[in-house]
Amino acid sequence: MLINPDRFRQSMEEMARVGATKGGGVNRLTLSDADKQARDLFAGWADGAGLELRIDEMGNMFARRAGRENDAPPAMAGSHLDSVPNGGRFDGSLGVLAALEAVRTLNDKNISTRRPVEIVNWTNEEGPRFPPSMMGSGVFAGAIPLESAYEAKDAEGARFIDELERIGYRGDAPCTPRPVGSYLELHIEQGPALVSEGVQVGVVEGIFGLTWLRVTMKGERDHAGPTPMHMRRDALVGAARTIAAIREIPGKLHPEFVATVGEFSLSPNAINVIPDDVTFSVDFRHSDPDLLREARKLIEEATHREAEKENLEIEIQDVGGSTPTAFDANAARAVRSACEESGYSHRSMWSAAGHDARYAADLGPTAMIFVPCVAGKSHSEEEDMDWEDAYRGCDVLARGLLKMADS
Ligand code: GLV
Ligand code: MN
Ligand code: MN
Repeated sequence: MLINPDRFRQSMEEMARVGATKGGGVNRLTLSDADKQARDLFAGWADGAGLELRIDEMGNMFARRAGRENDAPPAMAGSHLDSVPNGGRFDGSLGVLAALEAVRTLNDKNISTRRPVEIVNWTNEEGPRFPPSMMGSGVFAGAIPLESAYEAKDAEGARFIDELERIGYRGDAPCTPRPVGSYLELHIEQGPALVSEGVQVGVVEGIFGLTWLRVTMKGERDHAGPTPMHMRRDALVGAARTIAAIREIPGKLHPEFVATVGEFSLSPNAINVIPDDVTFSVDFRHSDPDLLREARKLIEEATHREAEKENLEIEIQDVGGSTPTAFDANAARAVRSACEESGYSHRSMWSAAGHDARYAADLGPTAMIFVPCVAGKSHSEEEDMDWEDAYRGCDVLARGLLKMADS
């Protein structure tokens, strides 16, 4: 292997101790104290590798290694160090620390590259605390306005900008589009394809579009005893029926279509009170923009239909999303040829998970590298992977990065 697997694993294990949970995962919500600690650890490592660290107005971190032609757009590689609540320890950190290992390898071997190389830690890839997801890269690509990102609020009412300042990561560099020579991102697959087929590496050629909605249904609060059934306007009943209807929509559209209700709140949430106010999220994804439009129509129809039966008022709010994107053929070819050099089995695939590569692709040739994860499980403390798979992924990233940095 080109890389040093032991050093890579040590860094991964040290990072996994930041915000570690009892269940073996990590809890590093964006802009939390644990996110700050993870950033500080990464910043120290970047410094140790002789990299110049730049932090932009969104808190995105760029650790740069000079190239022979420093005006050339950089060859970038990275991912994110934040996590979903009680998430896995590989989701995100694998891509950042593999990029670090790739750069440490270039240093060890005294390899110079034509383009400068930049390792990126994107801010708020995950999004559950401050929707939408992929926020740092979205602002960087000009797809999300900086002002709207700054004003995003978490469930407690804390503003993104205040939390960014609190942890000391509001940088001076402008977070605006600039040319990207290339962008590669290594990530665990987070699904079952590679592990079930026994394939070592996924060459990711595109990324699903995704839409996030927030649905509010309002009825009438009343007493659970004296209120006859026919007089009720029960927001929870309407929401439950709507959610059950949403569950059936993907099956009508395409075998790879997915839709999820992952967030739910109910008021007043008391055993003897008819609920009058329910809010839930909807996340739906596919590679075909027409099917995404069709799904949205079906979700809205289902919400109206079920609300009407229970005489509820509804509001459907857009929380963000991104369109399906095909990656650059040359960048994918560099990944494929890195697999072939090393004799790793590989297959092409699309990603159904969101990644910052989605927005990087707007600025320069981009591809992703997937490696298998145990049982295809992610966004869970049980997320796990075989270290040999992690080393192979890191090795492919290093080789691919070197190709792109000299292109
Ligand atoms: C991020 O991991 C997403 O796909 O929602
Ligand atoms: Mn991720
Ligand atoms: Mn994730």
